[in-house]
Amino acid sequence: MAIELFGPREIVRLRRAGEAARDTLRAVGARLRAGVSTAQIDAWVREDTRLRGGVPSQLGYHGFLAAVCVSRNDVVCHGIPSEAERLADGDLVNVDVTTLLDGFHGDTSATFLIGEVSAERRALVDVARRARDAGIAVVREGARLGDVGAAISEVARAAGCSVVRALGGHGIGRRMHCEPHVSHVGTRGTGPRLRAGMAFTIEPMVNLGRADVRTLDDGWTVVTADGSPSAQFEHTIVVTRDGCEIVTGDVCEKPALAAPHGGSCSASEYLGKR
Ligand code: MF3
Ligand code: CO
Ligand code: CO
Repeated sequence: MAIELFGPREIVRLRRAGEAARDTLRAVGARLRAGVSTAQIDAWVREDTRLRGGVPSQLGYHGFLAAVCVSRNDVVCHGIPSEAERLADGDLVNVDVTTLLDGFHGDTSATFLIGEVSAERRALVDVARRARDAGIAVVREGARLGDVGAAISEVARAAGCSVVRALGGHGIGRRMHCEPHVSHVGTRGTGPRLRAGMAFTIEPMVNLGRADVRTLDDGWTVVTADGSPSAQFEHTIVVTRDGCEIVTGDVCEKPALAAPHGGSCSASEYLGKR
């Protein structure tokens, strides 16, 4: 099936969905601290999503029984919120919010630092964000999808981290997941050519150790095979003639694209500036 191209009216709706997801992620992220259960995060996401007129896209998706994925430390993605799991000092926690609003989905995630986090883990989070932003920076009409993965994996490899290959980004629109599959380890000059009006996510999962992952018996939770910590950042973007629009982005994150070391905006600053 071909990759759908969205027109101006559809892009307005993608933007609204993206902004709602972004605002929920920001509101929930600001409440994270040691002691909070991941089930509490789920409750906050449900409530905040509803307040913005949306519905959590992930709830009931292929039987997923929560509104949000919460992925701590060695959990790469698709962590299921639970009453028993509590955030602790030194944790990395990714919160992945997807909102359905007026028929369109917006999907975004960020990895947050809880309390005092080791320098090694903080660096991992920084690499994951810079890798995503490097992928976003090469998007424009005429670029190839493989250019995105190549840019991402170069940033991670240069920092001595690995990029998960088993999962990728995805097209998004009236469905949460559709074509194209967005590999975060592509080869430059390969893959579909990007066209203005395409919408997809860029969401690299970056590991401190090896790239291999496995899925737990619950059928959802993806963890690093070697137990090393993993970090992830996700945006939903729409391709334009000279770049892209980050529909889940904000005033703080855009300058990070141009910053030489990408260090202009930490996860806590990302929240603090609003
Ligand atoms: N938001 C996730 C993504 O980035 C979707 C996870 S599917 C779920 O693609 F069912 F686990 F929620
Ligand atoms: Co996604
Ligand atoms: Co997501």
